[in-house]
Parts: sequence; structure tokens; C-alpha cells
Amino acid sequence: MNVKKISKEQPDKFEFNKKNLEIAKKIISNYPKGKQQSAVMALLYISQRQNNNWIPLSAIKYIAKFLSMPYIKVYEVATFYTMYNLAPVGKYFFQVCTTTPCMIRGAYKLVDVCKKKISKNESNISKDGRLSWMEVECLGACVNAPMIQINEDYFEDLDPQKLENIIDKIKDDVTPKPGSYRGRTSSEPENTRKTLLGNKNA
Ligand code: FES
Repeated sequence: MNVKKISKEQPDKFEFNKKNLEIAKKIISNYPKGKQQSAVMALLYISQRQNNNWIPLSAIKYIAKFLSMPYIKVYEVATFYTMYNLAPVGKYFFQVCTTTPCMIRGAYKLVDVCKKKISKNESNISKDGRLSWMEVECLGACVNAPMIQINEDYFEDLDPQKLENIIDKIKDDVTPKPGSYRGRTSSEPENTRKTLLGNKNA
């Protein structure tokens, strides 16, 4: 289960940089006049990307003002969804899906690997300051369970050894290959299997 943690250390100020200000205005223009508040999730996401993958309270205040919304409403959105980080995360941020399909395919063995190789407790940053992990709900890739997301990429059809190899590569500054780790293309059947009646998968 994800534990939402709000950082005790907060920057005093946040504002969009020039590029993100333009992106925010463009997103808002997609909505009818007076409905600019519908852009709140997108703007929170942009602020997260700008601020090393976490959203400070000053960004929540800034976005509330930007969209003429009460602060508490933006705060509610930011604290509800797991994709928003409210405390610093590692440069390599591992999201381990532990919802039912991934869980019955061994997701908690992946959690054990994260505990062993990254940090004992979720949301704590590794000793080298570069990696952190968190349990999350379904990431929409259940057919390739168990899977994790590292930053923007999905790593699928994993087992503990494969995840250990991925973490070792990242620690050695080698970029691991995203996608299926059983050689599947997308979520297609393995080998020559064409129907559910063929040979069982591993
Ligand atoms: S249950 Fe893990 S991706 Fe859906």
C-alpha cells in the first residue's frame, strides 16, 4: 500500500519556468472559458517534472493561484493520486505494482528485491542518493505482470533475478532496456502460441 509522505523540507517558492508556463497556458486553452480548473492534474504533473519528480507545497499554492482555485482543492488532488510525489524521490524512481494480477505473479518478491537493493522502507532514498521505490496500484500493464515503472518506462514480465540485474545496471550507469523481460512484443503470446489452448506460458 502506498503511503503518501509530505516532505518536511520545503522550498519557499515555486513558479513555472518559461517553457512550462507556455505549456500550462496551452493546456488551459484546451478547456472552455471558465473551466480552466480542469487543467489541475496536468499542471500538477508539469510542476512535478520541473521539480525533480516531486511537488512542493509552494507548487500546490502556485497552481491554486494560477487556476483561481482554493488551495485545499488542489491539495486534495495532489494527495489523492499516487502518481504525485510530495517528497523527494531518487533520480531513478521505481514504482512497483502490487495490485492483484501483479501480486499473484510475484510482485511482492520484487518488493523484497527493492528492500534489499534500494532501501529497507519504501519512499526512502538509497544510500547513494540515486534510487527510491514505492508500491503503487495497477499501472495498466497487467497482461505483462509482474511489472514496475522506472521513471517514464515500463519493465514487464519480471522476476526477482531480472529486477536485480536491472538495478545493478542502473547502479553501473547503464540504461536498462524497457519492455518485456520474457522477450514478448507488447503483450503478444510467447513463441508460436496462438490460442489459450496451446502450451502454457512459463
Ligand atoms: S495489476 Fe499490475 S499492472 Fe495491472
